[in-house]
Amino acid sequence: MTFVAELRSDLGPAGILTGSDAAPYLTGQRGLFSGEALAVVRPASVDETARVVQACAAYGVAIVPQGGNTGMSGGAVPTAGDTPMPAIVLSMSRMNRIVSVDPDRWTVTAEAGATIGALQQATDAANRQFAPDWGARGTATVGGAIATNAGGNNVLRYGTMRDQVLGLEAVLADGRVWDGLRALRKDSSGYDLKHLFIGAEGTLGVVTRAVLRLHPATPNAQSALAAISGLGSLMRLLELASARCGGDVTAFELVPDVGLARVCEKLGLSRPLQAGAEFYVLLRLASAEPVSERLGAFLAEASERGWVTDAAVAVTEEHTERLWTIRDELSPMFLWAQHEHGLKFDNAVPIDRLGPYHDEVRRIAAELAPGALTYGFGHVGDGNIHLYVLPTRDEQVEPFLAVRDQLQERIDEVTFRFGGTLSAEHGIGQLLQGRIRPQKPPVEWELMRSVKDALDPQGIMNPHKTLPAGP
Ligand code: MLT
Ligand code: ZN
Repeated sequence: MTFVAELRSDLGPAGILTGSDAAPYLTGQRGLFSGEALAVVRPASVDETARVVQACAAYGVAIVPQGGNTGMSGGAVPTAGDTPMPAIVLSMSRMNRIVSVDPDRWTVTAEAGATIGALQQATDAANRQFAPDWGARGTATVGGAIATNAGGNNVLRYGTMRDQVLGLEAVLADGRVWDGLRALRKDSSGYDLKHLFIGAEGTLGVVTRAVLRLHPATPNAQSALAAISGLGSLMRLLELASARCGGDVTAFELVPDVGLARVCEKLGLSRPLQAGAEFYVLLRLASAEPVSERLGAFLAEASERGWVTDAAVAVTEEHTERLWTIRDELSPMFLWAQHEHGLKFDNAVPIDRLGPYHDEVRRIAAELAPGALTYGFGHVGDGNIHLYVLPTRDEQVEPFLAVRDQLQERIDEVTFRFGGTLSAEHGIGQLLQGRIRPQKPPVEWELMRSVKDALDPQGIMNPHKTLPAGP
């Protein structure tokens, strides 16, 4: 029996997709990465996952774990071209159960294929909060979020995915199952191996289940969109918000006017604020106690100091939803057809350097690609800015492509010079393998390579991803 036939007879027809049924799993959502696979394999349990991994190890087949396939860096799709090993996509879509919500323990245990949205709903119903949140919540999965150490809009208050994982279960590259599903808040019993699997993009093993931390529900929440006088006041604004509202500031997101206008036009939404500022901050306060007085006081003080020039406070559910829809749709890939020719960055720098960093990127872009749009948005409260430099009209595409590589190199260089990273929350995947190396000293990459070799000596776990390419 061939490898695929063997897997089909083990998992049944629902467990194997080939041909056109497999196609959607082979291309990433931005369309940047596309590859080939012998089949898409969809195990329904940990045991089935372990047997699939054992078969791959025996036949020398590479495994590309995949969650909701919403990743931005090509980590969850197979590589294209002549790779020495054939591959399968290991889709976790049938392992999507929420195993238990445990309010007294403040945890939720879920399989890797459960979506972030499903987790939020299940835990809300138990008067607890699963805190990570971002636009793709309906499709992105627990496993994918762990694999990329995903962030999103609430990192400022609750941390990244790494901060939510108390324990996990993984199928190792030789098919053994490691049950590390512990629910301890404190545990100093040696190396904390779960952290190796978080952010590893499936290169060390397949995460199958996780115990995740829950937070108190915050029934009092309010969002506001504040027009700001410039990026120079960002950090003072954040400091004032923390001083006046304490830890209740859960989100502090940058919204450029050009993006806000485009989303409103595209979705037929009315503008929450009249034009006039280049940038806005969308912030959200959430607490067990009422927040609107504190939010009002903060906005009044910020405006007295000249940092905020106008503000819209959401007073109804509908207002709130409109503000967050605008935020969720801000990615240029939803807004400009030419985005695929543009440059896209998921960069972070130490937060006190965000303003000067953004100015420097804009200066370089204006010098090399004067017609292009430099577009920064997102999670500035934690130092992460999604920067895009892109042509927005067809006639700009050609001149942009002529300088694209040079522009990318200069922006990468400036990011490292500012002490930053090119991968704040989207992972390295295939996108950054050739560019990430200067961020860390050689010894750090060598250690990572040793870990990879120790856990996956055959090199079958998501090969050609994450670790820098080349010598
Ligand atoms: C977001 O925060 O909206 C994203 O991570 C998407 C992006 O970078 O385009
Ligand atoms: Zn983001």
